[in-house]
Amino acid sequence: MPSTRHAARLAQQAGLCIAMGATALGAQSSGYGLPQTDARMNRFVDSVLARLTLEEKLGQLTQYRGPWGLTGPQTREAGAADIKAGRVGSFLGVRGAAATRELQTLAVTQSRTRIPVLFADDIVHGWRTIFPVPLAEAASFNPEIAERTARVAAVEGAAAGIHWTFAPMVDITREPRWGRIVEGAGEDPYLGSIIAAAKVRGFQGRSLRDSLSLMATAKHFVGYGAAEGGRDYNTTDIPLRTLHEMYLPPFEAAVKAGARSIMAAFNEIDGVPMHANKRLIDGVLRDRWRWDGILVSDYTGIMELLQHGLSADSAAVGRLALDAGVDVDMVSNIFYKDVAREVRAGRLPVAVVDSAVRRVLRTKYELGLFTDPYKGSSTAREQALTLTAESRSLARTAAQQSIVLLRNERNTLPLTAAGKTIAVIGALASDARSSLGGWAAAGRAEDAVTVLAGIRNAVGSRGRVLYAAGAPVEEQDTSGFADAVQLAREADVVVLVVGEHQDMSAEARNRSSLDLPGVQQQLVERIYAVGKPTVAVLMNGRPLSIPWMASNVPAIIESWYLGVEHGNAVADVLFGTVNPSGKLPVTFPRTVGQIPIYYNHKNTGRPSDAKERYTSQYIDVPFTPLYPFGHGLSYTTFSYSAPILSRAKAGTHESVDVSVTVTNSGSRTGEEVVQLYVRDDAGSVTRPVKELKGFTRVSLAPGERRPVTFRLTPELLAFYDLQYRKVVEPGTFSIMVGGSSEQLQRTTLELTGRVHVLDARPIR
Ligand code: NOJ
Repeated sequence: MPSTRHAARLAQQAGLCIAMGATALGAQSSGYGLPQTDARMNRFVDSVLARLTLEEKLGQLTQYRGPWGLTGPQTREAGAADIKAGRVGSFLGVRGAAATRELQTLAVTQSRTRIPVLFADDIVHGWRTIFPVPLAEAASFNPEIAERTARVAAVEGAAAGIHWTFAPMVDITREPRWGRIVEGAGEDPYLGSIIAAAKVRGFQGRSLRDSLSLMATAKHFVGYGAAEGGRDYNTTDIPLRTLHEMYLPPFEAAVKAGARSIMAAFNEIDGVPMHANKRLIDGVLRDRWRWDGILVSDYTGIMELLQHGLSADSAAVGRLALDAGVDVDMVSNIFYKDVAREVRAGRLPVAVVDSAVRRVLRTKYELGLFTDPYKGSSTAREQALTLTAESRSLARTAAQQSIVLLRNERNTLPLTAAGKTIAVIGALASDARSSLGGWAAAGRAEDAVTVLAGIRNAVGSRGRVLYAAGAPVEEQDTSGFADAVQLAREADVVVLVVGEHQDMSAEARNRSSLDLPGVQQQLVERIYAVGKPTVAVLMNGRPLSIPWMASNVPAIIESWYLGVEHGNAVADVLFGTVNPSGKLPVTFPRTVGQIPIYYNHKNTGRPSDAKERYTSQYIDVPFTPLYPFGHGLSYTTFSYSAPILSRAKAGTHESVDVSVTVTNSGSRTGEEVVQLYVRDDAGSVTRPVKELKGFTRVSLAPGERRPVTFRLTPELLAFYDLQYRKVVEPGTFSIMVGGSSEQLQRTTLELTGRVHVLDARPIR
């Protein structure tokens, strides 16, 4: 990281007359550059704040969109005049070192305040080097990969002049119909928390001041993934305990990892839209968790308080949002337009505005913008750091680890290429844009290796690869079936690539069915009927209900949308260069009618028992999912010993180690994600039948065995009791270890002594 003095020199070299602490509105300088301690930072921030007019303060809280910022209803794009007038605190969607430098120069030389602007964007799973979509990456169960991909995304994004990313999305969801399930880590709060923290570490790097760090945003706070019926933006109904145990933990993990920004969610909770939810923003984030970063609205989220029906007056909703703790108004332009009136009329204390402005200025300070508003950005640096060979290679590794082998009967996979004719069938096989997935930032389809291209790369001249689209993804068009069937007849093996195109699993792209769209199911059945060994490769951003395939097609690979190296990674797995190791971060239902279906459910008073009539079950479909959470096969097999506890009895305040020996019982080297689940057998409130509390990846050669140890701390065994305190209660706990949430070895732990209270403050 450059020293402050060095950074100041850089800023000078860049020809700046401002943005040095000494000159921004006359604030006091410490000699060289800026003060480093919190107290001095706060003094600096206060001195800048003291010189701002009310309108300039509200300008700091205002985010306009740039050319790439249109990610919702049409809003006005800001230009030079807005910057000069001090109306812009930050931008959404201005891209590239050249464009951001140009606007920054205006801010720091032509506006009265000379305060640098922040450039924000949605850098979700890469900037130009696109990595697997978040749901796919979660399937790697590998926080190290998640952190490294975020680091590369930050480097490329920062080189393009961006300071602030609206990622990671940490929304837990049990709703595969919801289009945005693709953007998060799935259904489990423990996995979601580990991934959230890893992403924050990766984006933010060692220090926000570093010229190649991005400020991370944990979004969407909170409960967005619980939208009724999977309809995006919809109302939620989340009990308090569930909110704190399922939906809030990844946010807390992101906060603990240092996330400096959080975005409010579009939904309401219990009648209060999140953009006006003081109880959760001020109450949980700021008071309970002592978080002091900036809370940004979602796109037009403040304006939408009008539609929610909180008021018919935009000034009133602006006041409500600010008072609830929202600091930055993304594109509603209500803070700037209407809130000054509220303050002048005495309806909103200026101190509320000042607190928000302080947080924004502190962020700019922490990012080093008062020292070098350009953060060293230049077009040369941008070119040098974007889509490098190293980042592509990381994209391939991440993609390989994200692939889940769902089924592999009679060792259909891996395939041999030599001397074989391989028919690749499916429109998605050659759809490069879909390989990238949604929210692809500056990603380009031409950078992506499709499944067809990946197979061709792998086969080379050793075999023949034929291709037919067969059918489009969504349309009811069977005209390509005959060609595809003919191709299958000519081939030794068929690779069928089916699923959704990337725009089917995205914001506002909800589905009421989880079946293969269009005529793809018919296509699969027609090709299968040809009788050749058939492998299905799925491309999709949500669980699909594919019961027919699951009982007929002998091998199924879940490939999601894997980014620029999609096709190469799929081919690596198809031909066995890589042994698949991903596990499902979300339950796959047999039919949409089973939703919600998730692994960490309650037992109920009448748990499902197909032999008993009066139990919780369906009469037309089994109670179980098609593929459970944590499921994922390998080309080898792993066996597990029974778990052994460091002690079978412990106090409620003590930690216990759980050990298990994992053996590679097959004939290939492979990696296994070893999973630890816990059930509190009897509690003062009911507990889920199992909850993930640990996981780790181990690589084992054939015949090799390795002990794996997890530490179960009181924090991991705690829940919210009848008084809503966080406690560990005495009693027995089932401890389960295995390679999927449904293939587990068990033992029992007994906790003794008094109820251990970890946090006596009741949740609210
Ligand atoms: C709306 C989305 O909900 C949010 O996730 C995104 O960050 C903003 N648009 C900005 O693009």
